[in-house]
Amino acid sequence: MATLRRPINATPPFDPSALVGRRIEELEEYAPETMEEMAQRLGLPVGQLIKLDANENPYGPTRRTMALLNGFSEFHRYPDAVSRRLREAIGEYLDVDPDRVVVGNGSDELIDLIMRLFRPSPLGGGIAQVIDCPPSFSMYAFYGISHDLRVRRVPRRDGFRLDLRAIEAMCARDPQPRLLFLASPNNPDGQLLTDAEFERLIELPVVMVLDEAYVEFANASRVSLTATYDNLIVLRTFSKWAGLAGLRVGYGVFPEALMPALWKLKSPYNVNVLAQAAALSTLEDLEEAQATVARIVAEREKLAAKLREFSFLRVIDSQANFLLCRVRGVSINTVRRAVEKRGIILRYYGGDMQDYVRITVGTAMQNESLLVALRSV
Ligand SMILES: Cc1ncc(COP(=O)(O)O)c(C=O)c1O
Repeated sequence: MATLRRPINATPPFDPSALVGRRIEELEEYAPETMEEMAQRLGLPVGQLIKLDANENPYGPTRRTMALLNGFSEFHRYPDAVSRRLREAIGEYLDVDPDRVVVGNGSDELIDLIMRLFRPSPLGGGIAQVIDCPPSFSMYAFYGISHDLRVRRVPRRDGFRLDLRAIEAMCARDPQPRLLFLASPNNPDGQLLTDAEFERLIELPVVMVLDEAYVEFANASRVSLTATYDNLIVLRTFSKWAGLAGLRVGYGVFPEALMPALWKLKSPYNVNVLAQAAALSTLEDLEEAQATVARIVAEREKLAAKLREFSFLRVIDSQANFLLCRVRGVSINTVRRAVEKRGIILRYYGGDMQDYVRITVGTAMQNESLLVALRSV
């Protein structure tokens, strides 16, 4: 055994925790409650919870994918480091060149990769600023801060519309290149970026990262435009429509000129064997997955119509698998207590969004349980 030069509890010559980069002060730990914790808080068995807070797909993976996962045995092998078969299948699915596709550990990893690709280097090059248009997906600001980029917030206007003039004015005042992150449909409101908005923004000195995590529920993808615009990146995921959130598999479709740098920078073995196999299996059996998407879309429309019958809810039209509602006339805590008593978990917010609740579209039975609970408010 090696001899210790210092006793275990000795004070180190410096305090490592004092040397942690100061950017951390701007970040918050992300540790949402687990199902078990929720069940304990509500005093209900886990099996009685109806989880409608994270935009997950209540039907899960396709039957073929489940069978493949249940019989999987290749755990001792490293995965294909560059996801060749899966990228081929994605290329076919979207009619894009697979050589312009990078697969990641959820689309979150692609957001991180894009920031790493562009963050200024001591050797030169880089984009120093990110434009974030809140309310939107919180990971854009999170990764921006964690890569020491300056996050320029351009809050959305009434109705969650983008403040195009403010973005254009920022670019006109100081035309340095920026990364512009936009989700379409946007989380939390579920609305699409319009063609007019897209056309104005793509002409600015920005690399636009268009996050289409929910686009399968909308049928309005701009992924084919990545072959036309050198400043457009589209992100997609298997988490929502394909029911694979827990396996973490997303991807980006990039302009060709960025590919050599991306291949060098991507973490090796970033997508595990199960995730690659499950995503591939989903694409090989599209019919079932697409039938599930159609079911969720039909349920969304039914649920939206029913929610509109409640005088205390204002429901925003959504093209995603969730519905954002503004609560008025009663306190949001009253609504929360009424639904949680029945084990129904929804997504609540703070700050400017404290009157809003986001509801993931569940199965017909789950949605019905929600409506029953809301009738008790
Ligand atoms: C807009 C948006 N993008 C990306 C993600 C994350 O996707 P993934 O599970 O592929 O990391 C989410 C998840 O909630 C999201 O709402």
